[in-house]
Amino acid sequence: MEKTFTVQQNLELLGRYRYTEIQFMELMGSWAYTMVDPEIKIGFGRHMFQDSVHADLIGKRIPELKGRSQHFHSIPPSDEFVKLLEKIWRDSDELLRMVGLYRVLKPELVSVYRRHIDHLELPADEPSGYILRLIADEEQDHIEWAEKVIERLSASANRNDEIGEWQKSLSKDLQEAGGIWGDGKKPGTYVFKKTHPYSKLPVRDGRWIIMQNPSEFKEKDWSFDTNEGKLHLLHDLLNSEFITVERMGRILADCPEIPWQMKLDMARQAWDEARHAEIVQRRLEELGGHVGMFPTSCFGWEQDVNRLDPLERLALSNMTFESESCKHLRDWIAKAKRTGDLRSLQLVEFLLADEVNHVLYGVHWIDELTKEDPERRKRVMAYPDQVLADQHPVGVYFKETKNA
Ligand SMILES: [Fe+2]
Ligand SMILES: [Fe+2]
Repeated sequence: MEKTFTVQQNLELLGRYRYTEIQFMELMGSWAYTMVDPEIKIGFGRHMFQDSVHADLIGKRIPELKGRSQHFHSIPPSDEFVKLLEKIWRDSDELLRMVGLYRVLKPELVSVYRRHIDHLELPADEPSGYILRLIADEEQDHIEWAEKVIERLSASANRNDEIGEWQKSLSKDLQEAGGIWGDGKKPGTYVFKKTHPYSKLPVRDGRWIIMQNPSEFKEKDWSFDTNEGKLHLLHDLLNSEFITVERMGRILADCPEIPWQMKLDMARQAWDEARHAEIVQRRLEELGGHVGMFPTSCFGWEQDVNRLDPLERLALSNMTFESESCKHLRDWIAKAKRTGDLRSLQLVEFLLADEVNHVLYGVHWIDELTKEDPERRKRVMAYPDQVLADQHPVGVYFKETKNA
């Protein structure tokens, strides 16, 4: 029988897994707004959340094994491994990114989890086995999802040779880096920061028509009591759901220093919004609509993701826009009820339940992180008014209507 792991060996590996899961979450967060394919944006929303949960589960096991030092919570496997992550992160090609993450990095992660499970001292270390098995299965699902996307994208592009070369070269780098176990290597000390250039707009596929001037935006003047009104409102909401997946991703990638629980909340919101995009698009299509049927606005994007302070982003988008959105959704619910549209009613009630939590994430983290910093609190809370004073788009605010 093969040698089984000691507590100490376990800790050294768990720290490498947690580091890797967090890096994957940040890669997706960094990329989401520049990926054209909407299915990838949605998949990233889901996977960012699941990878945050994986890192969280591993992070809870580490202190159980008396890994009290911070060192055990995040161990870069080797400098070469970190540089490989950076190389994949830097590539701007959608398909090559997918191949790097889902055909090279994630399969390595699944394989080290499975190898780890084979080396467990049982039943002494059954708790590690329990979580690693759950995580490995979920990572395997990510790989299978991505395989379908990669096949679809590469079938239309005729780029199999190029993809094969890229995959081969990354696999070679991975092997030379000692993989995620960092075989024969010292833990890495090299750090790369996922920086982003100033962003005017998130990337959309060719079906979308993006308004150039926010004053053209009148979608929120429509009412949810006619089919035409529903199409306008749902179409506008669909774009907002994508924006929110993208802006949560940017907080995760831009601000690695925020508290761990805040990252979990942001990743959770990314998943919520990804599901919302799926739900809203389905309802739009059930009602006879389609993506790109109206021009749409990305107002607020530029004013959000380019702010250095993540709390200013939350003040503007979670506490202001999403709080307005809750009022709109309550109005839709009332109208759906009145007009007997039970399908919309049921779906919008689920959306509203999540949105209320998103507003609370904003309230909670701004309160928590500015308790001892009144200057920062003042600046953060003043930011939404500053944006809206400059550029007040028609229909952002909810207008009370008589029969609502
Ligand atoms: Fe949403
Ligand atoms: Fe939301």
